[in-house]
Amino acid sequence: MATLAFKFEEITARELKPELYELDGISRETIEAHFKLYEGYVNKRNEILGKLDGVDSSSANQAYSEIRALKVDLTFAIGGIKNHEIYFEHLGGGGGDPDGQIRRLIERDFGSVGDWRTDLKATGMAGRGWAWTAYDWDEGRLFNYIGDAQNTFPIWNATPLVALDVYEHAYFLDYRTDRASYIDAFFDNLDWSTVNDWVAKYQISTK
Ligand SMILES: [Fe+2]
Repeated sequence: MATLAFKFEEITARELKPELYELDGISRETIEAHFKLYEGYVNKRNEILGKLDGVDSSSANQAYSEIRALKVDLTFAIGGIKNHEIYFEHLGGGGGDPDGQIRRLIERDFGSVGDWRTDLKATGMAGRGWAWTAYDWDEGRLFNYIGDAQNTFPIWNATPLVALDVYEHAYFLDYRTDRASYIDAFFDNLDWSTVNDWVAKYQISTK
């Protein structure tokens, strides 16, 4: 039987930093429930890749619909992994105004920290799942992109540096329908040193 020509290793969920369980305004219960969802995406990714490995890609039409279903679901699972790994990694800090290289980038591309924050918050209120501040390598600048789901609408060749989860599961236990207050709490817990580490790691120029 011809199978798809690829090999993938299974991955495991990354552990959360202890600080994640002591956030200001985002409860331990929310983080625990949120982590379980993230683990679910990791398991789903492994499961789908296992199924894809067994698809007979030479039998045409039936395989195409199977491949389509699996690969579409795969984008959701992988999006759920990547989005949440950014989200969890850059929370647990003291919030406040950014410093260092990320501050320079934000001021250069948005005019001021306040304008960036206002735009990201509005984008988060407007989105159904995510708002990201990402560095677009083709444009050579930061932009606040909107996402409706784990797999919509990331932009090619852009590197997310801030990932604001606005799915209800991120805040409903703590804020019910008050998403705006949750977004304020998100800003209060950002760890700018982590974001600055990413700016350095990806060698994003602040010139
Ligand atoms: Fe989430």
